Amino acid sequence: MARLRTTHRCRSCGAIAARWEGRCAGCGEWDALEEVESVGTAAAVPRRDRAMPISEVDAHGAVPRPTGIGELDRVLGGGLVPGSVTLVGGEPGIGKSTLLLQALASRSVAERTLLVSAEESAQQVRRRAERLDCLAPGLHLLAATTVGEVTAAVDDVEPAVLVLDSVQTVCEPELGSTPGSPGQVRAVAAAMTALAKQRGLAVVLVGHVTKDGDLAGPRVLEHLVDTVLSFEGDRHHALRLLRAVKHRFGATGELGLFSMGERGLEGVDDPSGMLLGDRRRGVTGSVVVPVQEGSRILLVEVQALVTPSALTNPRRSSQGLDGGRLAQLVAVLSRHCEVELARSDVHVAVAGGVRVCEPSVDLGLALALVSSEAGRPVPDDMVALGEVGLGGEIRQVASTPRRLAEAARLGFRRAILPWSAPRPPPGISALRAADLRSALAYANLCENPG
Ligand code: TYD
Ligand code: MG
Repeated sequence: MARLRTTHRCRSCGAIAARWEGRCAGCGEWDALEEVESVGTAAAVPRRDRAMPISEVDAHGAVPRPTGIGELDRVLGGGLVPGSVTLVGGEPGIGKSTLLLQALASRSVAERTLLVSAEESAQQVRRRAERLDCLAPGLHLLAATTVGEVTAAVDDVEPAVLVLDSVQTVCEPELGSTPGSPGQVRAVAAAMTALAKQRGLAVVLVGHVTKDGDLAGPRVLEHLVDTVLSFEGDRHHALRLLRAVKHRFGATGELGLFSMGERGLEGVDDPSGMLLGDRRRGVTGSVVVPVQEGSRILLVEVQALVTPSALTNPRRSSQGLDGGRLAQLVAVLSRHCEVELARSDVHVAVAGGVRVCEPSVDLGLALALVSSEAGRPVPDDMVALGEVGLGGEIRQVASTPRRLAEAARLGFRRAILPWSAPRPPPGISALRAADLRSALAYANLCENPG
């Protein structure tokens, strides 16, 4: 029988402390340690390996095997690696169960796969599989909620890939705490990691994350697993984005794109076309920006709405864009362009539920803000690309020619660019702006540049 003991874990970074302390030594967060039970040192994975000369280590174990779902394989850098553990995190309802059901059905053409559902009954999963054409003979299904049942099913089926849906609803009864508590989630993940390593089995754990990404679960697991994928999107929009946040076997930053429809998830070939599909022309506060995600270029519509505010502290809201950068741009516009937004409510968003983290969107966002404030649209055939510095200067961003080629493909003819930007590809001409003021002039948003 395993020995239970009590330790303390940080809610925010997952660091372990033997005693309770007011401040986490790992991340410095105050009042974040909470009591958890752990089973002796069982969290450590039992190992059978012995040290050997590096040249004799078998490299083949780590070769990824394609799932057959193109967009998933793209993000994984080829597929799932035997013996590895992958965590797929995302908000409830985003499509995690659907994605993994489709992946298992597809993979089961080559190898046996096992889906353990602790959230839905076997009947529910079967009905969904029927609808999605996923009744593959090699795909096995079990509805279970304990680690013991999962291990027994793995012994029984001997799958090459195991999906556990979800890590928060399966539990280790010996611990006594409720499923989903940090101690439980870690114990389940540790048991599944051991299983993966012992049997050379690719394990995928599903984990629910709340909007702020802070729920017990995925965050505390990130350093235990080999790969962390994040499945995102706006539930009210069909587009879903899959990213690798951590990946021991390849690059992170690659983006997978799906569209959720009647027949489950389908890969999206022309995301820019899809994102710009509903765009209205000639409206104020709308600017198209070619952004880069991994090796992909996406044309996104940045929107701004500026209205007079009745509040002492006017509202600032940003969806899919960084709130800090918005504040910075508002300050730069005020200081260097005489555009005052201090008494206005400002709402900004990226259409289609996409999240853009890179600074290349700065210029487009600044133009959208001024366009809304001035009530004048930015010309329809124009894109904007550049990082805005605190002095109002516009800086170059990576992969400008590729971004502009994608803009040209979608019919854009002019691009406002930093002074130093490389020559644009055929079909699109450059409007070079050294600072935000001249960019505003090119976009017909102010009369006299410089
Ligand atoms: P699901 O995979 O259950 O999400 P998660 O496991 O992340 O909680 O998918 C949830 C949503 O997806 C659900 O609200 C309905 C929608 N959906 C479709 O639109 N089409 C489909 O074919 C399927 C299976 C689901
Ligand atoms: Mg689910």
